[in-house]
Formats: sequence, C-alpha cells, structure tokens
Amino acid sequence: MNIGKARAYTNIALIKYWGKKDDRLILPMNNSLSLTLDAFYTETSVQFTPELPTDRFYLDGQLQDDAQTKKISSFLDIVRHKYDVPLFAEVTSKNFVPTAAGLASSASGLAALAGACNAALDLSLTPEELSRLARRGSGSACRSIFGGFAEWQKGDSDDTSYAVQVSSDSWEDELAMLFVLVDDAQKDVSSRDGMKRTVETSVFYQGWLTAAAEDLITAKQAIKEKNFVSLGETAEANALRMHATTLGAMPPFTYWSPDSLKAMNLVRACRAEGISCYFTMDAGPNVKVLVQKKNQARLLAQFTEQFSENQLVMASAGPGIEILNSERSLTHD
Ligand code: DP6
Repeated sequence: MNIGKARAYTNIALIKYWGKKDDRLILPMNNSLSLTLDAFYTETSVQFTPELPTDRFYLDGQLQDDAQTKKISSFLDIVRHKYDVPLFAEVTSKNFVPTAAGLASSASGLAALAGACNAALDLSLTPEELSRLARRGSGSACRSIFGGFAEWQKGDSDDTSYAVQVSSDSWEDELAMLFVLVDDAQKDVSSRDGMKRTVETSVFYQGWLTAAAEDLITAKQAIKEKNFVSLGETAEANALRMHATTLGAMPPFTYWSPDSLKAMNLVRACRAEGISCYFTMDAGPNVKVLVQKKNQARLLAQFTEQFSENQLVMASAGPGIEILNSERSLTHD
C-alpha cells in the first residue's frame, strides 16, 4: 500500500463556527468564514497495512497512547467504512509551530490527515470531496483545504456541507494576523464540548445565530470591496458575540484569561492611535489580531512592549492543502 503525505495549514475563523445540528456528521448550525494562515501547519503521512493489529499514531516523533489515538482512529474508521478499506494504518504527524507555546490545531491536523488518506488510497478526491471528508474529523478542518478566505457552507446533509473558496482578487496577501499566545491557568473546555454546552443551554444562542447570519453577509461584502475596517469590525463583533454565548450557558464558562483582556485592550489602544487592527478569539485564551501588512510592524512594536517576544507570532495568508510526494518508508520524527 502507498504512503500518502499531505501538508495543511491552520485557519482562523473571522465568522465563527459555533454549534452543531448533527454531532455525528459534524453539520454546523451556521456558515463560517476563515482565513488560512502560513505560520502553523501539520504534515501527516498515512499508510494502511495488513501488518498492523491496530492503528498506530506518532505525533512529533512520539508514539501516542490510546486516548490520543482515538480521534485519529475514529476518523480512519470513517475512511475505512466509506472507501471499503479493511486495514489499520500507521499515521505520522508533525505540527510546525514557530514557538514552544504550542497552538496545535485540529483544523490543520484533521485536514492533513484527510489529505494523506486521499493520497494513500489514491482516491483522487476533488477539493469539495476532500473538504467534506475533513469535516468529519473536525468541523473547522473543512476550511483548511483552501488557502486565503474560505466559507464553510453549512448545508443540511453529509453531501451538502463543505467549504468553498471565497475569491478576493488576492486581497488576503495584503493582510496579516498577529497571534498573541497567552498563558491558560484555567481548565480547558474543548471547542467540541463548549459549543455543545452552548447550543443546549445558552440563553443567548438564538441571538448568536441571527447575528452570525448577518455578520457573514457583511464580511463577504467587505472582502468583495476590500474594505478592511468593515471586515475587521465585523470579525471582532462576531467573536465577541460567540464568546457572549458561553456566559449565557449553564454552567456558564469563559475562554478569556486576564491576559486575553490585556491583549484586547491593547488592540483598542492601537486603534485609538491610528493603527487599524481588530481581534478575534477561539476556544482558548489566545488573541489573534487582524492587521494590514502596511501596519504590521507598528502593531508588533506596540505588542512587544507588553508581551514577550516568544508570545508573539506574525502570520500571513497561507495556501490550501498540499499533497506531498509519497515516501518509501515512514520516519517518526
Ligand atoms: C471556536 O472545528 O475544533 O475555533 O468540529 O467539534 O472538531 P469540532 O470543533 P472545531 O471548532 C472550532 C470552533 C472555533 C471557531 C471556528 O474555527 O470556526
């Protein structure tokens, strides 16, 4: 059997995916819109082989235990079932992150795994089919099939829920995103658990859905017009609306830490000084700041005064999934 290898980049949603209407198929409650970034990516190799009694998963050179392998195996089960492959697989993944602070991403990880399966099994999937497959591993992964801006169209079935490229006349090349990596003292609530609790219990969830539909229209129009202020304002408001739903959940929770607030306040202070920039946040305390390339040095200078250098990573727009040449043998590092 072939070894298939793929590289996928992480993406950050400007209009968030927050809530599922089907947990098993990973069908979302609302459309989302993202920017793929170049700074964080995953490379994954897959080989299905009759020689293995179970799946084996190496991450960054380390053989993973059963708990870690479970998410990978569940995805491989979907592939085995869908494409009639009665074999276990060896999966070797490496996360490329520019600092020790981590930021492993399920979006790049599951997209790379889908791409590697596509290559290993010679499936020749179209981008749409690959997006649908990656979605089954992790919702946000379906957007990492594409570079630049991508919209995940929620659909209402396995066949109709996938991401598409949002054309922008390469405007994304003028944009950058500063990742502010913040310490997390709290116990994590995963995005999967957090969105589930929110859908089931948040008194604000209906308001989120109404607002997200409007935010999506505004954001797409802003991309079309290359209107940075409109895109930034909409993305920031959308992130705050998503995070507001967690406070209305039962039990209530938040992903914010004191340093998240410090970063958000600094973004506002930068704006007051004429640096156009806007923040967004996901299911954790890190803050990501959208800025135009022409202002990225000034933004970085401001953040360097309040955060240490290894907490700050500047990213540009990144490419879509890349299928890499198959290798003869797997290496685990
Ligand atoms: C807050 O894609 O990690 O980052 O589908 O359960 O694997 P699962 O969730 P995941 O959720 C991402 C949520 C988010 C917003 C976003 O990326 O759109």
